[in-house]
Amino acid sequence: MSYDVVVIGSGPGGYVGAIRCAQLGLKTAIIEKYNTLGGTCLNVGCIPSKALLDSSEHFHNATHTFTEHGIEATGLKINLPQMIKRKNDVVDQTCKGVEFLMKKNKIDVFTGLGSFVDANNILITKADGSTEQITTSKVVIATGSKPITPAAMNYDKVRVITSTEALQIEKLPKSMVIIGAGVIGLELGSVFARLGTKVDVIEFQDRILPGMDNDCAKELTRSLKKLGMTFHFSNKVTGVKGTKTAATVTFEPVSGGDAQEIKTDYCLIAIGRKPYTEGLGLEKVGIQLDERGRIAVDAHLQTNVAGIYAIGDVIKGAMLAHKAEEEGVFIAESIAGQKPHIDYNLIPGVVYTWPEVSAVGKTEEELKAANIPYKSGKFPFKALGRARASMDTDGMVKVLAHAETDELLGVHMVGPRVADVIMEAVALMEFKATAEDMARICHPHPTYTEAVKEAALAATDNRALHI
Ligand code: FAD
Ligand code: NAI
Repeated sequence: MSYDVVVIGSGPGGYVGAIRCAQLGLKTAIIEKYNTLGGTCLNVGCIPSKALLDSSEHFHNATHTFTEHGIEATGLKINLPQMIKRKNDVVDQTCKGVEFLMKKNKIDVFTGLGSFVDANNILITKADGSTEQITTSKVVIATGSKPITPAAMNYDKVRVITSTEALQIEKLPKSMVIIGAGVIGLELGSVFARLGTKVDVIEFQDRILPGMDNDCAKELTRSLKKLGMTFHFSNKVTGVKGTKTAATVTFEPVSGGDAQEIKTDYCLIAIGRKPYTEGLGLEKVGIQLDERGRIAVDAHLQTNVAGIYAIGDVIKGAMLAHKAEEEGVFIAESIAGQKPHIDYNLIPGVVYTWPEVSAVGKTEEELKAANIPYKSGKFPFKALGRARASMDTDGMVKVLAHAETDELLGVHMVGPRVADVIMEAVALMEFKATAEDMARICHPHPTYTEAVKEAALAATDNRALHI
């Protein structure tokens, strides 16, 4: 078989890239080593974690806010196997959707491990050991990432686990220690804390979500503490030991001091992910990696070997599904001779805790480091009628604009449904709008989006109306 493009890996980078290639008239194949398409995102990432976040949020509301709403519900119970089954059904439907899209776009799907024979020939090794070889003009590597699991943490997939196993737990743990207060630690920590598990988070830094806006991080920390999560900041884990029924986590202050030990039902390792290049046979074609083991690419996402490209988690940049998707489209359009563009500054980041956190553009810390003069406006959700109506008053919106030109430079939010609200900021920043532009747009009342208008007003001559 001979193709214009072969994509290795069917995550959001790979499958979206393959669809765009096919739309542009390129004969395309996609290779996936697992039996289901969709990669980390659909199978063990974005989709299943959001399904469990939604289920656990319903339970938390039913047990914590219903009474105040005037709803008396008694005898509430968690049926965790059913919660996991619903999540698995959502995953299944979503993965089947990708299968359908491959057929619709006449993309050939090969199941097996893809590896380079040379720059134009790819070997597919199936689970039963049989092989098949295909020929192609261009290759897109979209093999994604895997969790980082240091040897001292003794990852055993039983009691010392990563997000992949945490998404399958069917008996509610009494306790869980999470290593890392990043996105996975906080999202999955929220799921279990809402269901009643005692959650302890051990974090190397002195705060949650390093790299995101500090005020948002502080607000979310307060909310997660209210939820019952305990944080051990500025601590490093020195060892984890698992048995068949429990795990023991040893940690000590980063600045030195006495070690502590927690015995727990599960230890969840959530300290970041690493690019996945194993088994690709990169050495056969001499593809170079960067200093962090990621596939090195140029501004056109091409590797050092002409005609071989890489996208998504396996290269530099944010490990996000929508970043991978943008790169999938970019590469397809580049191969087809177009001149696409991605503004990496405008890739939004979202944390699906409650309240949610979202951000686009620069943080105050980044603006200070780059000596860019800026002004800032903030508006708290507790001053918003919509937020009081839904009892979601934790959080705020912060708008950062250039001190002289008023151009929007960054927007950071923590609050109800801000995962969706952030899109207004992304769209306006794409069009290089100012804080004044944002403030003058009519926002529907009562909605959470009014906090954006008010924060923009606050950034523009301090003229917020409702505070
Ligand atoms: P992947 O999705 O990792 O897909 C790569 C695919 O390549 C895999 O299916 C793999 O099996 C396959 N593969 C690897 N090597 C080979 C080979 N040699 N041959 C054949 N196939 C191969 N991001 C968000 O934007 N929003 C979220 O809410 C979000 N939630 C997440 C929650 C969790 C728990 C996790 C773990 C991640 C989450 N992410 C989220 C991150 C997101 O999943 C990744 O950024 C995204 O999946 C990266 O896409 P990708 O296409 O680069 O790679
Ligand atoms: P992360 O990079 O978000 O967070 C890792 C955290 O672990 C950091 O706070 C770091 O300081 C801490 N840490 C590192 N080593 C440590 C150690 N030895 N001891 C204690 N703390 C340590 O990584 P995470 O949460 O594993 O997520 C991986 C990737 O998946 C992220 O890059 C994220 O982009 C993506 N993801 C995105 C989601 C979203 O968009 N909503 C949801 C989940 C994951």
